[in-house]
Amino acid sequence: MTSRPIKEKVAVHIKNNRAGELVFRTTADRLARARQRHPEVSSRIDVCVDWDLDNFDRSMERAEVMMTWDLPTDDLQQRAPRLKWIHVIGAGVEHLAPFDWLPPGMTVTRNSGIHLEKTREYVGMGLQMLNNHVPKFASDQRRRDWKPVYSTPIKGKTVTVVGVGKMGEASAQVAKSMGLRVRGVRRTGRPSRYVHAMYTPEDLDKALDDADFVTLNMPLTPETQNLIGAKQFAALRPGAGLINLARGGVLDHVALVSALERGILGGAILDVTTPEPLPPDSKLWHTQNLIITPHVSSDDDANYTDLTLDLLFRNLGRYLEGRPLINRVRPKLGY
Ligand code: OXD
Repeated sequence: MTSRPIKEKVAVHIKNNRAGELVFRTTADRLARARQRHPEVSSRIDVCVDWDLDNFDRSMERAEVMMTWDLPTDDLQQRAPRLKWIHVIGAGVEHLAPFDWLPPGMTVTRNSGIHLEKTREYVGMGLQMLNNHVPKFASDQRRRDWKPVYSTPIKGKTVTVVGVGKMGEASAQVAKSMGLRVRGVRRTGRPSRYVHAMYTPEDLDKALDDADFVTLNMPLTPETQNLIGAKQFAALRPGAGLINLARGGVLDHVALVSALERGILGGAILDVTTPEPLPPDSKLWHTQNLIITPHVSSDDDANYTDLTLDLLFRNLGRYLEGRPLINRVRPKLGY
């Protein structure tokens, strides 16, 4: 049976942010290329691309679909009477939570799945850096201190991936390919082919027990806020390494600084902090054995927006046919 199209044409509003970097912007070129890659969908959409709230109200009189990072949520229904679906151009949507503003029947989707190649590379790099004491050597170098510490091969060591969604699974995949033993923590406890042993959040401490490394990949929700702190560091093998690609809010930074200074953790790599940008007076900047990258781990400079537009267009095809959208946010779970 072929599915019967239920819509002829749909109006789409794309809201670019002047404050956002080029990598996240829908430029005329990127949109034109996406239209070429998806000709059937392209002929059935009217797209308006604008900056921040420029022409927002006018465009929203017609738009059923919006792609954006953020939006005015307070009076959304009045301003956007036809809006049915919002696609958020990030993997995380905690900046829009709680979703009590979401009118009934309106769907939010997110950019899950487009970060995976970069996530694999970053986590592979991070695990190797931690295993080879690079955060420590970077601190020693700043002090002009020549202090050899030798390391053993990474193969056979244990990593715990907290939050096995798509990015967590990509982290698990690269770790497994490097010969690590992979433990995972996911809400449902559902197994993954890249994870040797899967745990639910209730068994977080067991999942961390004596692990050599931990990577944080979970969404930021009330349940994960400050989830990882002194108690969890103490469960790891002494001198273990930590990578955070989730959100700064999942990690107790005071406990992190103390654990790094006391050697409970041997090294850490943070791609995310609270707040972002990290203020110049933050203690994290000069905490020893800590490497900070400015939230760049998983965003492909050349392809991020192309991949985002491919996802939007694939979902627009489904929308036009009345099929369920992929990557739907579950408002009650907050991601
Ligand atoms: C994010 C992203 O949500 O980079 O952090 O997509």
